[in-house]
Order: sequence, then structure tokens, then C-alpha cells
Amino acid sequence: MTRVIGLHSTEASLVFEHDPQAGLLWRHCGLRVAPGDLPPLSQLRGPATFAMDADVSLPVLPPAGLGWFGPAILAARSGDGAPLIFAPTAWDVASDERQLTVTARDSVTGLEYTLTIAVQEGGAFRFSAGIANRGTQPVSIDAAASLQVPLPADARRIIAWRGRHNAELTECNEPLPQHRWERITRRGISGHGGPPGLYVLGDGTGWHAGLAYAVQLAWSGDSRLAVERDDEGYWTLSAEAVAAAGEIRLDPGAHHRLPEAILAISSQGRNGAMQQQHAAVRAMLCWPDGIMRPRPVHLNSWEACYFDHDAARIERLARAAAMLGIERFVLDDGWFKGRRNDAAGLGDWEPDPLAYPDGLAPLARTITELGMEFGLWVEPEMISPDSDLYRAHPDWALALPGRARPTARNQLVIDMRRADVRDHLFACLDAILREVPITYLKWDQNRDHAPSGGAAQTRGTHDLLARLRAAHPAVEIEGCAGGGGRADAGMVPFVHRFWSSDNIDAVARVGMQRGFLAFLPPELMGSHVGASPAHATGRSQSLAFRAAVASTGHLGVELDPDALDDTDRAELARWIAFYKTWRHLLHGTRVNLGDGADGLRWQAQGSESEKLLFAIRTAPPQDRRPQPLRLPFAALTESWSVSLLAVAEQPEHGLPRAPLFGRMAQHPVAFTGSWLAEAGLPMPCQKAESVAIFRLAAAS
Ligand code: GLA
Repeated sequence: MTRVIGLHSTEASLVFEHDPQAGLLWRHCGLRVAPGDLPPLSQLRGPATFAMDADVSLPVLPPAGLGWFGPAILAARSGDGAPLIFAPTAWDVASDERQLTVTARDSVTGLEYTLTIAVQEGGAFRFSAGIANRGTQPVSIDAAASLQVPLPADARRIIAWRGRHNAELTECNEPLPQHRWERITRRGISGHGGPPGLYVLGDGTGWHAGLAYAVQLAWSGDSRLAVERDDEGYWTLSAEAVAAAGEIRLDPGAHHRLPEAILAISSQGRNGAMQQQHAAVRAMLCWPDGIMRPRPVHLNSWEACYFDHDAARIERLARAAAMLGIERFVLDDGWFKGRRNDAAGLGDWEPDPLAYPDGLAPLARTITELGMEFGLWVEPEMISPDSDLYRAHPDWALALPGRARPTARNQLVIDMRRADVRDHLFACLDAILREVPITYLKWDQNRDHAPSGGAAQTRGTHDLLARLRAAHPAVEIEGCAGGGGRADAGMVPFVHRFWSSDNIDAVARVGMQRGFLAFLPPELMGSHVGASPAHATGRSQSLAFRAAVASTGHLGVELDPDALDDTDRAELARWIAFYKTWRHLLHGTRVNLGDGADGLRWQAQGSESEKLLFAIRTAPPQDRRPQPLRLPFAALTESWSVSLLAVAEQPEHGLPRAPLFGRMAQHPVAFTGSWLAEAGLPMPCQKAESVAIFRLAAAS
């Protein structure tokens, strides 16, 4: 007897058929359905030409061969290198309303794959899987997917992201492949293209409506995402962490846990799938005391002074920061022994005696007295060949026998696979946190891995982070890798913010921030007001525009306030106050993204009854007058009071405004929800590089 099992979220259903012979088979992976009294697959699937005599329908854990010709859930070898086919012979399936666990055992190889799919708060499905060797011989796992799901035949487009240092998260929009599409990373970190994740969109799917799938793998190392066409007429989508050849060897009785994967399915377009991803990621966060407190405004010293540290200068910077209303002062690279430039010092985690003759304690005291928290930059996974640590332990760098050790930014990667190395790093970081009142670490990682340390390198880093978090639960951590080179859900259980890019140019940030939000929520998105001209691009933008774009994430400042003129300094203080007023609406809430007419992009964040709307124009308009901005989310509420909070632009070159906007700046103006959704919010004229910020409150 076959049995139909369904897992349902508000919007989506995963429906399976448990056939005692064939195992667990897919029936549906899509929008919510009531399966009812379904006829079994054996009755649906008649003979097809050139097909196997015994029908092979899409299994949840497909084997490599034996009549299944699509991708396998895992590829393995025996101890002597002979390929093994994982083809389960026994299945245990247990399920309730919120989750399903399937354990598939192969009596021939002794391999066992266990998968739990759980419905998350917010509607996404979390896939957690592991492999065990129940046989009597060692086994090597060459590849193992954390998630493999079917995509419907009417799926149309893949949205994925690519990127490099200073140009993170460029969106790529491609048709579903006729053969196979792959996104592989081999740099040892998830990379500047963002998390290992993708969106798959149905016919006509946009930001607000239409079928959308979003998958992200919670992994911070190498990965493979694949979409493969099957001649049955659908695609399979798989996501897996990639290990080094021969790395995952399971002795009899051993178990290997795979990274988790998050699947979102929505009829509410990209926004619906994004909101599910945000909710799932929020559930993985471990805030001190279990709760997110208001995200403090940072001042980060990096672009203010780079490596040019001395205690008096940094103290001046801290005082200038406090005057602006900054709440956390982050001392970036350059504070430790021998670190006068990027050619030396990584590994020697003690204050540089020339820059800080009395250590960091006096600075920490000043910062605390100024009412700010003290944060410190570290790059524990790296070692400079010119460091005491390297001179003492040259064998601690990742290296291959007989091969050169290629440096990048003059540094080598520490072998995080080694427990003794992790112990040493823990002891250094633990000592720093015990000696000085530091409540925040910016944890950087500034090069690709060559040679590779495989998946164990990533696990070693996660392990050290977990140990540090356990020992110092009140300390928050920011994940960074040459800007946004390692911002992914694999890091989320250990960090509380990601630095999204070393490119702080606000125009460049608009696209990157959208890519970031595709998988991670805005309270994790480190976004700073940088200097003008921007150091990464040389472009100049008004302070208001830079600040408005940065206000959509976790705000920080990355410039020397003393280098600003009085007008800009006062303006920056006003934006910091603005962010503090509204951060409760910007963080932990629902995000909607959209495109208006004529190149306008918009973003709304907030609760169901109150939202901030940012209408962002990066390029000059083509049209004389802006078209009203349609806001589909507004339809759910009968009536809204709309106020214009600010138009962030170059002050001396603002455009004249229609009288309505003067009124809206003084008093809220009422619009029905249907008007805003279908006819649109009237928009002020905006020049290039400006942001109009509105508040929408549900009118009672
Ligand atoms: C990376 C980070 C920067 C800064 C420098 C310091 O590039 O992304 O923010 O911390 O390293 O070397």
C-alpha cells in the first residue's frame, strides 16, 4: 500500500508518496495544495518509449544509476576506490504536521542517508541531512546534496548572483537550461557573488506576484548549485557543499552531517520567497540574551585612517564619533603588533607597542566613558609570513608538500583543520576579550584559499566561532571577507552582522543591497556612510544620498567626522538620529522590493501597519514628471496616512516640488490601499542620486 504524505506551509506544499518498494517519491513541490485522495503513481505513469520496464519515478533520494538517469543524491566509493551506487533498500519515514524524516538504508553498500524537512516559521522548508556508514568497510563520499527538489515544467528563469571584491552581488537573469546550469565556487569561501543560493521564477513572475522558488545552502565554503533538465519534462534543482577529493571518509559507524538548506516557495513573487528566506535566517540567529537589541550605529576606523594608527589619533576619532551620536566604535585593521601595512603582523594578536604603548585598555576606557561600545577587528584565519606566529609555526599555514605557498594580500591561510591551531587562536581571542571590555569583533578573512583546505577548513572556522560564542555569549561578531566575500546562512549562527562590501559608493550599493536582501535580512546588512569621493570608485555623492542608502541596513559611518565641514557633520548627525528613530521599523520586519517607472527602485520595510518607503533614483530620469509609484503591498490595508519624511539629495541642486509634497512633509495625506496598490503614490521630481523617504501608517 502506498501512502501520500504532505508537508504544508501557508503558501506551499511538499507532497510525497511512500511506496514500500520504491521508497519516498516526489508528487509535488510547489504552491499549497490539498492532495485529497490521490491515485498512486503506479496508476498514473503508463509505459513510455525506451523506458525501464519497472517504472522509476523521481525519488526524494535518487540513486546513481539503476534506472534513474538524473543527478544522484550522493556519490561514493569504497575504500579501494571502486564507485558505489547508493540505492536504498529500506526506508523509514516518520512525519507530523511540521516535519518529515526519512532514513534510507542501502544494505549493499551499508550507506544510510537521513533527511529531515521541517516547516519554518514564515513558511520556508529547512532541509537537514546526514550520511552514516552502517557497513563494515570504510567509504569515501565524493559528493552529497543537502537538497534536491523537482522544479515544474513551467519554471522559466534562474536568478543568481556573481561578484568580485568591490563589486559584490551582480544579479544574473538566465533562462532555465535545456541541459544543465551550474554555479560552482572553488575559493574556499562562499564568495563575493553572495550566498550559495538562487531563485527560480515561473512564467511572468516579478517582485510581487507569480511563482517563485528560492534556495540557499547554509554553507560558507565551496558549493555547487545545479539545475538539470530531465527528459521526463521537469528540472531537478540541487544544492551541495563541495569537499576536497577524498576528504570525506567514513569509517564503519561514522556519520557526516551535511549543511542545511532552506527552500522557499511563494506565489507572491520574489518578495514572497525573500520574506520566507528572511524568516528562516532570523530563526538561525543567536543574539546575546536571545533577542536582537536595536542595532547600534557604528563608526569603523578603516577608511578614516587605514593603517595609520596612534592612540591619540584614534582617541580623537572616537570623540568625534561620540559627538555624532555613534554607539559602537570599531577599531579596524592596524592595531596589532607590526601591522603598519598589509605586509606583516597577522597572527600576532597583541596591541602594537608603538601605536598603543599602554595597550588597548586606555582606549577602551575612553570609548566606554564616551558612552560607546568597543569593537575590534581581527582576522584569525590568516597568517603573515612576516609575523612571530609564522616564524614559530611555519607549518600552520595551509600548504601542499613540495609546492609553493601562493600569498594573496601578502598573507597565507591558517590551517583551521588542526585542533591545536584552533586552540591557539581561541586562547588569543579569549585573552583579548577578557583583558579589555570589548563587546564586538569584526571577523575578517581577506583572501581566497590556495591551496584549498576543503570543507574541513570551513568547519574548523565554524567550530572556532562556536567556541568563542559559547565562551563570550555577550560578544557580537561581524562576518567579513574582503567586504562581502563570506556572507551566508552558514555563518549566521555565529555572527550578528555582515560587512557587505568594501565599495561604499552609494550608487554601487543599491544593487548590491538588493542582492544581499535576496537571502539575508536588512538588520544583518552592514551599510556605512563613506567619504566623498568614495574611496573604491572615486565618485562623489551628497551626504544625504549616502546616508539614506545606508539607512536601509545596519547603519555605520566610515569616515573621519573631523574631515567633514560643519554643514555635512550636522547633516550626518541628523541622519544618525533619523536611523535611531526608525530602526525599530527597519529591522526584524518584512521587506518589499520593487521597481517603479523610469529607473526608480523602491524598498519598503516595516510592520503590517507602519512602513518606511525608500524611493531610490540612481540615474537621471528620462521623463519630465515621475509616474506614481505602485505599491502592491498597500492593498491589504484599507487606508494609509502617508508622510514625506525626507528627500535625500544634493541640497543646493534640489528640484522644485509640487505643493502636495510640501503638505506631505508637514501632515500625513490619506490614500486608500487600493489606490496606492493600483494607481500609485504620487512621487516628487527627483534628480539622479536621491532618495525620497515616506512613512506609511495604516489609518484607523
Ligand atoms: C577588508 C575589510 C575592510 C577592512 C580591511 C582591513 O578589506 O573588508 O573593511 O577591514 O579588510 O584590512
